[in-house]
Amino acid sequence: SLPLVVALDGPSGSGKSSTARGVAARLGLAYLDTGAMYRAVTWALLQRGVDTDDAAAVAAAVADVTIESGTDPAEPTIVADGVDVAVEIRSDEVVRHVSPVSTVPQVRTHLVDLQRQVIAAATPGIVVEGRDIGTVVATDAAVKVYLVADPEARASRRAAEEGGSDTAATAASLLRRDRIDSTRATSPLAKADDAVEIDTTFLTLDEVIGQIVALAEEAR
Ligand code: C5P
Repeated sequence: SLPLVVALDGPSGSGKSSTARGVAARLGLAYLDTGAMYRAVTWALLQRGVDTDDAAAVAAAVADVTIESGTDPAEPTIVADGVDVAVEIRSDEVVRHVSPVSTVPQVRTHLVDLQRQVIAAATPGIVVEGRDIGTVVATDAAVKVYLVADPEARASRRAAEEGGSDTAATAASLLRRDRIDSTRATSPLAKADDAVEIDTTFLTLDEVIGQIVALAEEAR
């Protein structure tokens, strides 16, 4: 039978990662963090000295970047060019450059191909988080969820995750990425017509996970 696919999209700081991992763990499914893949490509390009604002240079360099994603929700891994980059992809430098890199169509096709291979191989299914999963990567996913939250809630959650960094600076960085992600020409951040929208501003993590698990159980 085909893998059960749960597509989870939304802006930065909407709670996607914790939610996706929790849903995958509760349902015994694999987990794929596509944001980590875009971050890992960005890291590999910076390593090579590529000017990440030069779309032609990014397009030319991306083809020989190798990315491997480990899909255990308890211990997801991300390897770029043979290097474990789990820590490096959270750096300020990668965060600053990832959204411009993600606008380049060759980057997207390279990663979407990889993502579809991982999804096709996942048994009994997979929770996939990103910006374009329901709209582009897995348009036939059995469950599509679009998470939203007020900007203040997203910034304070992200600042807490980052170990109490400055909330105002975090808010500015999130809003900048949202703007680039939702206005780019190729597969912008968007809610799929058939996605269920969940506003997480006033919900606990367990409540959000519970709602999505219920949707997946109906779909199974
Ligand atoms: O989800 P995360 O914050 O790790 O994603 C980092 C960046 O990667 C996003 O801001 C976006 O620019 C890009 N991204 C994307 N498409 C996805 C996942 C992430 O363009 N499916």
